[in-house]
Amino acid sequence: MHLITRKRFIVLGAIILLMLVVSGCQSPEDQTEYHAAWESGPHSTYDQGHGPNDWCARCHSPQNWNPEATVGRPPTCVSCKFPGQDMTVGDGNDLILEEDWKAIPCETCHVMENGYATEMAWLNPISMEYQEVSNSTELCEKCHVTTTGNAFGSAVDHKITLGGSAHLNYGGFIGEEAPPTYCTDCHDAHTTEPKQCIDCHEDDIATAEHAGGAYGLMKDTVTCIACHDASGLDVGPHPDEDNDLWVTQETTMGRSGPSTSAVISHSIVFEVACDKCHFEENTWELTVRTADGEIPPPPTPEPAEETETTDG
Ligand code: HEC
Ligand code: HEC
Ligand code: HEC
Ligand code: HEC
Ligand code: HEC
Ligand code: HEC
Ligand code: HEC
Repeated sequence: MHLITRKRFIVLGAIILLMLVVSGCQSPEDQTEYHAAWESGPHSTYDQGHGPNDWCARCHSPQNWNPEATVGRPPTCVSCKFPGQDMTVGDGNDLILEEDWKAIPCETCHVMENGYATEMAWLNPISMEYQEVSNSTELCEKCHVTTTGNAFGSAVDHKITLGGSAHLNYGGFIGEEAPPTYCTDCHDAHTTEPKQCIDCHEDDIATAEHAGGAYGLMKDTVTCIACHDASGLDVGPHPDEDNDLWVTQETTMGRSGPSTSAVISHSIVFEVACDKCHFEENTWELTVRTADGEIPPPPTPEPAEETETTDG
């Protein structure tokens, strides 16, 4: 009698254990995979290259931030290290010692219970109290923002603008699924790795009609966003890499003249005008095409020729 109960108990225990193993990460006791994901991503990095001072810490290590810190008059840096020199810290802010570095830990984005991450929330670094956020974008934008600077210029420009009618501001979608709307619809919140366009649109681009039937001739050269960008960025072959891949880019004027760099667009549109690239006298010698992709009729005879005929 006693023995049977114990045996039953063991069987029951084994079943529960099996269920736990099968359900795997469902157990709130095991968040190791989230720790590993976070560890592999950019939010776990804080080091001398990231301005370990109590001003830059606002976003790089919020728990080390001092809201009173300011950026002093140049030429002092907020914090700099030149080869063979000690760290220099600018007027108005303090160096944070390595043993105090926090980076962006679980508790910045989650209410913690017994060391485990629970619901998503923002740990306000001034009050050190949790603030509700209604979606992931609101959370990400605590730091992925553009700030105005002071007289000595301390602005940072990190705002990610989601836009374009294909994903946002879309008047009703055709398929079953809503288009991605918030940051974590594409980005893993912990590794921050994004889903690529093709991960969701493989079937759409495989159609014979895609890009006026010419996609096959361009797919190895032209990226999705070079065609589908809604923000009006320039496009062209990658300015830094040797692969000729067409990307969105921007040319800015610096002290040593104009320089072009690749920039990422988060604004996506459905309509694509072919003459965005295939315009007349384009420097890449692409065939000239109309917005609809037609080859325009040959130009009408020059007026100069007519004058010649009248003369003769
Ligand atoms: C308002 C928030 C905020 C502040 C303040 C801030 N950063 Fe950043 N920083 C970010 C974000 C967000 C990124 C990464 C995303 C991106 O590149 O858009 C970043 C990226 C960086 C990078 C990596 C960029 C690269 O090209 O590899 C460095 C280095 C850096 N910051 C240094 C600093 C220093 C030094 C300061 C102080 C002068 C500072 N940051 C202040 C938000 C901030
Ligand atoms: C930069 C903010 C941020 C940090 C830091 C962060 N998380 Fe998260 N975490 C999120 C967001 C946002 C979600 C919701 C993801 C979604 O909606 O897809 C989430 C979801 C989760 C979930 C629930 C997943 C699910 O599918 O329900 C767990 C568990 C979790 N995080 C654990 C952790 C742990 C452990 C850490 C620290 C190692 C951590 N998180 C660090 C933002 C963060
Ligand atoms: C507490 C501030 C903070 C929050 C909240 C935050 N980030 Fe970041 N994020 C940063 C900083 C700072 C960096 C730059 C780290 C570095 O380069 O060392 C960064 C880097 C990144 C990068 C890599 C950028 C690059 O140039 O490769 C991505 C992608 C990213 N974050 C996405 C997100 C997403 C998505 C969320 C919301 C779930 C989020 N972040 C929330 C501060 C934050
Ligand atoms: C997480 C999945 C996902 C990712 C990643 C994604 N999309 Fe989408 N996209 C969707 C969904 C879902 C829709 C709505 C489809 C519908 O209307 O049925 C959509 C709509 C669109 C549309 C409009 C389609 C139409 O019929 O009106 C275009 C164009 C588009 N996406 C292009 C892109 C490009 C370019 C990228 C990469 C920068 C991208 N998408 C990344 C899921 C995604
Ligand atoms: C439609 C999917 C999608 C959505 C939604 C999305 N991203 Fe991205 N994001 C990407 C892809 C794809 C890349 C990488 C592009 C590449 O490397 O070519 C990227 C790159 C980034 C980068 C690094 C590049 C840079 O410009 O410095 C940051 C930071 C970032 N995303 C933050 C965000 C934030 C914050 C949000 C929400 C406001 C967001 N993303 C929403 C797909 C998305
Ligand atoms: C050479 C330019 C070009 C490239 C590159 C391109 N597209 Fe398109 N795409 C178009 C055009 C043009 C349309 C049709 C829009 C129209 O009719 O005005 C289209 C339509 C779409 C649609 C809507 C399809 C439907 O059935 O409604 C999606 C989704 C899409 N593209 C995704 C992508 C993705 C993902 C990539 C990259 C893998 C990509 N496109 C690359 C030009 C391009
Ligand atoms: C973002 C720039 C861009 C847009 C927009 C674009 N193309 Fe192209 N196209 C290219 C590039 C670059 C090549 C050369 C590809 C290669 O050599 O691999 C090309 C090559 C071609 C070719 C093969 C070579 C030729 O000239 O006959 C055809 C056909 C073509 N495109 C048609 C179109 C049509 C139709 C559209 C509109 C639906 C379009 N393209 C929109 C950049 C673009």
